Amino acid sequence: MSAAAPLLHRALAEQMDEARRRTDDLFDLLTPAALYSRPIPERHRLIFYLGHLEAFDWNQIARNALGVSSFQPEFDQLFEFGIDPPVGKAAQDQPADWPGVREVLAYNRRVRESIDGLLERAPEQIVHVAIEHRLMHAETLAYLFHNLPYDQKHSLAVDPQHAGHPVQPVMIEIPAGEATLGQKREEFGWDNEFAEHRVHVPAFSLGKYKVTNRQYLDFVRDGAPAPHFWIQRAGQWFYRGMFGEIPLPLNAAAYVMHKEASSYARWAGKILPTEAQFHRAAYATPQGHERPYPWGEAQPDRSRGNLDFHHWDPTDVDSSPAGDSAFGVSQLAGNGWEWTSTQFAPFPGFSPFPFYPGYSQNFFDQEHYVLKGASPRTAACFLRRSFRNWFRPDYPYVYACFRVAEN
Ligand SMILES: [Fe+2]
Repeated sequence: MSAAAPLLHRALAEQMDEARRRTDDLFDLLTPAALYSRPIPERHRLIFYLGHLEAFDWNQIARNALGVSSFQPEFDQLFEFGIDPPVGKAAQDQPADWPGVREVLAYNRRVRESIDGLLERAPEQIVHVAIEHRLMHAETLAYLFHNLPYDQKHSLAVDPQHAGHPVQPVMIEIPAGEATLGQKREEFGWDNEFAEHRVHVPAFSLGKYKVTNRQYLDFVRDGAPAPHFWIQRAGQWFYRGMFGEIPLPLNAAAYVMHKEASSYARWAGKILPTEAQFHRAAYATPQGHERPYPWGEAQPDRSRGNLDFHHWDPTDVDSSPAGDSAFGVSQLAGNGWEWTSTQFAPFPGFSPFPFYPGYSQNFFDQEHYVLKGASPRTAACFLRRSFRNWFRPDYPYVYACFRVAEN
């Protein structure tokens, strides 16, 4: 064992503890009845996720990587995989098809104890995968919980403040140049982040700000359907926040589906940016070099944008100028993932993770689009430049927004 190994092990154990605290805190928001709800028809009942996080760690770290024999194989299997059927093709299981909460919690406790004892022997890559898997669920659980009736969750958050004066849309010229996509071999990334490669991006222009609710409302008034997160009561529009409805915050980023984002762009005589254009606007500089974050080298924190679990809902699109990119584009990280026009597909040199072959490959089906950036509920580690998110174009529950481009 190298001298760095105990330090590395301690750092990973701390990250694992912190990720567990995140997901435990989320489940603490629920009333007991909520666990058997299915707030999103195309996803499992919430009880699945209570077991899934531990089953994933067990299956990846204990069973697959270290060959430890199972103490409860039916749960390892029952809680192994989530679902992503086409919209409208919901699962048909009933609450009684699932085990009781106590049984699941007992399984979880036993998994945690075992994993803590095994962590030192586990391959570093697999532990990273387990930690990031849990943190991804800390975000996707928020989408699920967002769609629960308010009386099924304990309210704890204060909504972000919103200003009244209209934000003026501005287009920013991004000169032609190079963009680096993907991750270096020696760094951690999921399989779809490899291999690192450079692409040439012709000149284009991009909205300085994400499209606001005010702008999207003009489109709705012109006949477009209202986004999933909006509700109209007595002629007034409201935003359905995580813990309550508020009058539609007009300067906040509009959460929409890919389908809606691209129709808006067409209606406005614009297009959605590609993944490569996003990289260019976010990480390139007028001097020619590229940087790890839109604002430069500094680690992400709440001054740079609405990210890393500080808020539950979007803020105004001009509320975090300290996060602007070198070209002056705002909020390329945080306040909602950004839809791109790029279909999710492998980078040159892709090969699937042997221990989780379906993670990305199952979605290279021309039915998913790449999102970049981050949402209010995205952990800071996913702000690395190479990270790619993807969803179906008509899946309305994601904290996803967009900005427009022009070639
Ligand atoms: Fe999962």
